[in-house]
Amino acid sequence: MKNIKNSKAVFEQAMRYMPGGVNSPVRSFSAVKEAPRFIKRSFGAYLEDIDGNIYIDYISSFGPLIFGHARNEILTAAKEALDFGTTYGACHMKEVKLAKIISKLMPSMEMLRLTSSGTEATMSAIRAARGFTEKDKIIKLEGCYHGHIDHLLVSAGSGASTFGEPFSKGVPKDFIKNTLITNYNDLDGLKKIIMENKNQIAALIMEPIPANMGLILPKKNYLNKVREICSENKIILIFDEVITGFRASIGGAEELTGIKPDMSCIGKIIGGGFPIGAFGGREEIMNQVSPLGGVYHAGTLSGNPIAVSAGLETMRLLIHEKENLYKKIKNKAVKLKENIESEINNISINQLGSMLTIFFNEKKPENFEDVKKCNFKKFTKFFQNIVNKGIMFPPSQFETVFISSAHSDEDIKKTSDICVEAIMSLENKNK
Ligand SMILES: Cc1ncc(COP(=O)(O)O)c(C=O)c1O
Repeated sequence: MKNIKNSKAVFEQAMRYMPGGVNSPVRSFSAVKEAPRFIKRSFGAYLEDIDGNIYIDYISSFGPLIFGHARNEILTAAKEALDFGTTYGACHMKEVKLAKIISKLMPSMEMLRLTSSGTEATMSAIRAARGFTEKDKIIKLEGCYHGHIDHLLVSAGSGASTFGEPFSKGVPKDFIKNTLITNYNDLDGLKKIIMENKNQIAALIMEPIPANMGLILPKKNYLNKVREICSENKIILIFDEVITGFRASIGGAEELTGIKPDMSCIGKIIGGGFPIGAFGGREEIMNQVSPLGGVYHAGTLSGNPIAVSAGLETMRLLIHEKENLYKKIKNKAVKLKENIESEINNISINQLGSMLTIFFNEKKPENFEDVKKCNFKKFTKFFQNIVNKGIMFPPSQFETVFISSAHSDEDIKKTSDICVEAIMSLENKNK
């Protein structure tokens, strides 16, 4: 058991000044009934907390750190950029360079705008789609997350209703009346809401490979059919690739699946660990964005030179290491999955590239309903067990493990052994 005396003491103070002691709710570890660790530093595949405990980290800041923590070249790029000033409120060359690279790697983004977060990117993409189509309704898929935007904080209503309920207080029902909900991997549900709202739908926003209800994989032909249905009905298909962009492959899910959406949203990896996001799409849609068109979008720190410099260096490394990188991190994820599956049979693991989720259910979840059927008590016990042995998984059954190029084979072996032991001990206790 780790000594976390200092973390606990700081958490007490944090709770006095910040709601739940945190600046983003999942960090509170409340879902897993543990005290959050306060981090002193991070390096490679590791986090060190203020009590001196070292963890093999699989949160990877929820996605950005494909090269692990504090990769030298990225730090250097950011440090060098600082000597040229922190923010200009004016144009600079590096933002053009980054936009050009992104557009080449993700061809759906013929034109794009940089933002300071993924939330801003998805919010603005939807506004652009609505402006372009001059329609108000949008479709969101249950369990996909697109940031904390009022009209997307919606969960499915009761029964077969396609109208959801706000799942956050403070979101007026009126704000979500144009958000229609159906399930991921459910083509019939999608067709039904389109039929019921014919010619009224501006866009469908979705994570092509969802990673915010744990990792969920698309059924065969599902994404092809979604693309077809959207085209037939003149609905703008928006892929939210804030997680999968440059993670699922260098060109994201778009490259991996060969399906081109009308618009895409990205973030995380393109900032090399600094705050960033971007939305983009077909030129005719993006031409609607201010100052060219009437769809307003702005941002004091959009295209911030430090974030863009770190992002450019990350892109350079991705392009340079591409052949080996994606194969290497995928193999590590496969190894972790296989090591656990060879010993344990009453869980299921979804894995794609360097992402995976262990679900405490024998059946592999295919949508949010399935994930809700997992044994959350077991996940909590599992998390508590492994974190106290130095393995930092994301603290929720609804999150995804991210493997980086900094994870060594020994890290993976140690992690699998500890995971297997933790799951077995759960079973023994249940006997
Ligand atoms: C798929 C997806 N979209 C959007 C967001 C929001 O991004 P941000 O937290 O940078 O606002 C997230 C955040 O995790 C995400 O996973």
